[in-house]
Amino acid sequence: MLAKRVAQLDASGIRKVFDLAGKLVNPVNLSIGQPHFAVPEAIQQTAIQAIQEGHNRYTLTQGTNELREAIGEKLNQEFGPAERKILVTSGVSGGLLLGFMCLLDPGDEVIIPDPYFVMYKSLIELVGARPVLINTYPDFGMHVDDIGRAISKRTRAIVVNSPSNPTGAVYGQSELEKVADLAAKKDLVLISDEIYNEFCYDEPYVSVAEIYKKTLLLRGFSKTYAMTGWRLGYAAGPTELIEKMTMVQQYTFVCAPSMVQWAGITALQTDMSKEVEDYRRKRDLVYEGLREVFEVRKPGGAFYIFPRAPEDKAEKFVQRAIEKNVLIIPGEVFSSRNSHFRISYAAEDEVLSRGIETLCGLAG
Ligand SMILES: Cc1ncc(COP(=O)(O)O)c(C=O)c1O
Repeated sequence: MLAKRVAQLDASGIRKVFDLAGKLVNPVNLSIGQPHFAVPEAIQQTAIQAIQEGHNRYTLTQGTNELREAIGEKLNQEFGPAERKILVTSGVSGGLLLGFMCLLDPGDEVIIPDPYFVMYKSLIELVGARPVLINTYPDFGMHVDDIGRAISKRTRAIVVNSPSNPTGAVYGQSELEKVADLAAKKDLVLISDEIYNEFCYDEPYVSVAEIYKKTLLLRGFSKTYAMTGWRLGYAAGPTELIEKMTMVQQYTFVCAPSMVQWAGITALQTDMSKEVEDYRRKRDLVYEGLREVFEVRKPGGAFYIFPRAPEDKAEKFVQRAIEKNVLIIPGEVFSSRNSHFRISYAAEDEVLSRGIETLCGLAG
């Protein structure tokens, strides 16, 4: 009955942990990929007001003029003034699907640094293309030489995800310049998933879109403003690509939720520096709590940390943690390897402390 393109599709490993979580009583849940704070009040009020004022219909496919203008201004402030095509999407997920659909033919290849966000591999396979994974253990940097060696005649794009899910790695200017040089030489598109751009703790954020013109820039509201269920993001990049993605949106998503687009304007004016500062502190707390016992890199951004499991297979360690009521995600969900595990520190300090104590106890 089902098409071949979905034959290999399996439930995300994260979902499986969520299902398990449902069965535990009051678990220490370090598996969740969303902020633990609430959507700021002003953003909530704008959404409520938008509904009450009748913003409940389809919007323009590309998003309301008002939100696109606000996004354009934000990008002008960051990158300098320019004419930009912007498409408002249903989350970064929506932008990823439209981008892959418009860039890839069956058999084309996309380079993905491994570990990677789960959706990339599945979406690339769904459109009949081939993900080519580049091992970035143990430092989780952009291994530009390895990427260069992996480029073939069928390569169309390289995925850049900084800060990264699941490692929290942040790529600096020189690393991104090297990737951009390589892409320019081979005429490739860079797909820059910048959903965690506001969660960058130790240095000013650098976007590869600033360095390389043929970048599909994808940003979202889910993580920065805790609006994960509201489904809002945007894409900017080469005109030809954004116009075609808009056309495909017309036949698929139609538009991003209309009341949420109004709330998005308020979100762009909302200062989240306190929340980000709190996550920087949590990053330090968790890193300091784990580093004596685990082999672990200090993450520069997002709200994840990706330590090495103390035994060969992370799966076993994760299972033992779950038996102790601590939910973490095995590395194989994000990787061709299963040596590490992901902790999300988007949780209360007390939960984090209990989690660290249990994990260190299990490893010691
Ligand atoms: C790296 C990365 N990209 C994209 C997404 C999806 O975000 P959205 O809610 O905007 O679709 C996530 C969510 O976990 C993510 O971690």
